[in-house]
Amino acid sequence: MADDPNRSSPTPPQSKRSPWSLLGALLVLAPVAVSVVLYHTDDFHPAPIPADYFAAVAPVPERNDRILAISDRLGEGLLPGPEDLAYDEASGFLYTGCYDGWIRRVNLREEEAKVEDWAFVGGRPLGVVFAPGGDLVVAEADKGLMRVKPDGTMTMLTNEAEGVKFRLTDGVDVAIDGSIYFTDASYKYNFSEHMLDVLEGRPHGRLMSFDPSSNQTAVLARDLYFANGVSVAPDQRSVIFCETMLRRCRKYHIQGEKKGTVVDFIRDLPGLADNIRYDGQGHYWIGLSAGKTLEWDVLMKYPLLRKVLVIVEKFIKVPLAVRDSGVLKVDLEGRPLALYSDRGLALVTGGIQIGKHLYYGSLDKAYISRILI
Ligand SMILES: *[C@@H]1O[C@H](CO)[C@@H](O)[C@H](O)[C@H]1NC(C)=O
Ligand SMILES: *[C@@H]1O[C@H](CO)[C@@H](O)[C@H](O)[C@H]1NC(C)=O
Repeated sequence: MADDPNRSSPTPPQSKRSPWSLLGALLVLAPVAVSVVLYHTDDFHPAPIPADYFAAVAPVPERNDRILAISDRLGEGLLPGPEDLAYDEASGFLYTGCYDGWIRRVNLREEEAKVEDWAFVGGRPLGVVFAPGGDLVVAEADKGLMRVKPDGTMTMLTNEAEGVKFRLTDGVDVAIDGSIYFTDASYKYNFSEHMLDVLEGRPHGRLMSFDPSSNQTAVLARDLYFANGVSVAPDQRSVIFCETMLRRCRKYHIQGEKKGTVVDFIRDLPGLADNIRYDGQGHYWIGLSAGKTLEWDVLMKYPLLRKVLVIVEKFIKVPLAVRDSGVLKVDLEGRPLALYSDRGLALVTGGIQIGKHLYYGSLDKAYISRILI
C-alpha cells in the first residue's frame, strides 16, 4: 500500500524521530554490521571441492524412490533426531541417540513399540554401537567417545588425538577384539556448525582407533572430507568409513599385508554418505543425508557462492536443497544393490535391516521410520 503524501502525519506528537535520523542510524550501523559479518566469516574459507564430488551417480539395480508413502513411524514425538541405530538382538531393543542428549530405546518385540529413556549422556549423541561385552559405545559429538555400561554407568574414553581435540565425534564401530574405530568429522567446526564444515569444503576429518587395553588413541587416516559413518568388516580385516562430501566410503585395512593402507570401497554414491552399518547378513546399509542435486552441484562448484550463502544465512534462514535422502544397500564388495529414498526426505542419517523391515533414522524427525522390504 502506497503512502498518501497529502495525509496528515500519523506520527505521535511525543516522537521527535525524523526519517533522517533513521538514515543516520543506518549509516552508522551498516559499517558495524558489515564488519561484524566479515569478522564472523573471517575464518570461513570455502575451497574448491575435489572432483570426486562431481562424478556421475553409479547405477543401482533396484530402487524405490517413494518410500515415504510406505513408511511407519515408531515412537513419534518421543525420539527427537534419532541419528544412529544399534540393535540388541537378545532383548529386542533398538537404541538411538537423540537431539536432547538422551539415548533412548524402543522394544521392537512389543506390538506398540514403547519408547524408554535409557541413559542421559548430554550433548549430542551420534554414533551408537554395542561392544562385545554388552556396553554401548557412543560417539558424543560435543564431548568425545564414551562408554555406557548396561547399568547406565558412563566413562569418557577419549577426546583428542595427536594433541588435536575432536569437535564433532561422529561415527563408531567396535571390532570383535574390542578395538574401537571412530571418526571425528571435523576438528574445526562442532555439531551445531556442521553445515559450515560441509560448505567450506575442506578436509577436517579423521578416522581413529581407541584401544581399551592401553587407552591409546591412534589416527589412522586424516584430511577426510567430513568423516562420518564407520563399520568394521565382518571378516575383521578392514574398516569402512564414509566421507560425506565426496559421496564415497573407503576401506582401511587393519590386518594382513595391506595393513594401514586405504582403498576405495564405494564411490559415486547417489548422495552424501552418512552412517554405514553391517546387517550380519552380507550387506552394508549406507544413509544418504541428501541426494546429489543440481543445487548442491552449483554450490559445490562455486566456493564464492558458498561464502555469500554463509553471510546471507546470518540474516535470513536460507533453505538448502536437501532432498532425495534415503538408505542404500550394498554388498560386501561395495556393489550397490538397492536404494530406498524419497524426494520429500531430508537428512536420513542411517538405516539397518532387522527381520523383514528396514529401520531408518534422521536428524530432523522425531521418530524412527520403518518400511517392509
Ligand atoms: C559450537 O561452536 C560455537 C562457535 O565456536 C559455540 O558458540 C558453541 O557454544 C559450540 N557448541 C558447543 C555445544 O560446544
Ligand atoms: C584406562 O582408563 C581407565 C579409566 O578410564 C582406567 O581404569 C584404566 O586403568 C586405564 N588403563 C590403562 C592401561 O591405563
